[in-house]
Amino acid sequence: MTNQQLIERRRKALGPAYSHFYDKPLHLVKGQGVWMWDDQGKRYLDCYNNVASVGHCHPHVVEALCGQARTLNTHTRYLHENVVGFAETLASKMPGELSVCMPVCTGTEANDLAVQIARVATGRHGCIVAEHSYHGNSTLVHDLSTSERFGDPDPDWLATVEPPDTYRGPFREGENDLGAKYAGLVSKSIQKLEARGHQLAVFMVESAWENQGIMQAPQDYLNHAAAFVRDAGGLVVADEVQSGYCRMGAHWWGFKHYDIIPDIVTLGKPMGNGHPLGAVVTTPAIVEKFAERYEYFNTFGGNPVSAAVGQAVIEVIDNENLLANATEVGAYLEGQLQELADRYDMIGELRGRGLFWGLDLVSDPDTREPISKEELRRITTDAAKQGTLVATMGRYGNVMKIRPPLVFSRDNVDHLINALDTVFARAN
Ligand SMILES: Cc1ncc(COP(=O)(O)O)c(C=O)c1O
Repeated sequence: MTNQQLIERRRKALGPAYSHFYDKPLHLVKGQGVWMWDDQGKRYLDCYNNVASVGHCHPHVVEALCGQARTLNTHTRYLHENVVGFAETLASKMPGELSVCMPVCTGTEANDLAVQIARVATGRHGCIVAEHSYHGNSTLVHDLSTSERFGDPDPDWLATVEPPDTYRGPFREGENDLGAKYAGLVSKSIQKLEARGHQLAVFMVESAWENQGIMQAPQDYLNHAAAFVRDAGGLVVADEVQSGYCRMGAHWWGFKHYDIIPDIVTLGKPMGNGHPLGAVVTTPAIVEKFAERYEYFNTFGGNPVSAAVGQAVIEVIDNENLLANATEVGAYLEGQLQELADRYDMIGELRGRGLFWGLDLVSDPDTREPISKEELRRITTDAAKQGTLVATMGRYGNVMKIRPPLVFSRDNVDHLINALDTVFARAN
């Protein structure tokens, strides 16, 4: 069976709605730590996967999964120690009153449930998300994922807001009061909703602005924005699917970098190290209002196997000091990427924190004209050919995404930088 035959079988069996990374799709068969292997035995350094957050096939996580799968798997309508213990452990990582954890299976489900809870708790319906957002794929959350709707009209309960893009946005680095200026746009979006007869329930924010190409917002932006949202009677929902779980270094959560406490936090990808696991974390007061009206049941959300996996992932992060690793190796990675950026005009801006970085690639550093997404795809394909996996993101598809497992080492950084040096030299 050649890979071309497998591609054709896949297209028939799964249909045409799926895409591949890289011009030559990879057929991966094995993973361990930060490495993956293809069907020919070729090894790749994984600089992309936040899902295998504590490293591919981590033995402690695999053992927890197999051990509980061998014993019992049920759901939340039976008592089980695992789900209670996992919810308590996860909540212990949260600040403030964020102490109630509702397990689900995906980031989409988490965001869907968060909006339902916020709508019941506020008695309002309107939502605000950033332009070019991605929050998931259910019918409701698809509406909140403006990057995926390719010009379909917004529902009238939704308003978008320009993300805090100080590189290409309307207010740029060097100007005064950037945080207040970008937050003023949130206030305008609230007014737009109100003019259409919708009061604000949810301001959903992803504090890495990953889908927009990674942004470091002005330090006071989220505090100003949250004040507008709460004054209008809405809730702040932090989508931490990308930015949570130590990804940005220094803190467990991306929003902590901005010193705010959201009303609801949604989680997904890295929680299960590849096992489907997500959660909504909120305050007792908010969830009480929801429970006065509705029961919540999710057949697979919070099953004892998934809970064992979630618990094991947190144990690995704590026992292997992966938050400190993300901070320290992340600082080294930043330094090395900055040196690269100083040498290649094509790198217009380096943005990110911890182990989550974006290289904004431009055809002209003065005009900041993005390179085409096809050009970046050629570059990432070239890196993959050399055994280094990175990806693409951003409004223009021109930002190289670097987001390795949290166990990434300094040696891994050196390997990545050598590979990028080679591909940028070839692309120039
Ligand atoms: C910021 C963000 N939120 C939510 C989701 C949806 O998560 P899932 O694919 O687990 O449904 C994603 C997925 O890429 C995401 O990046």
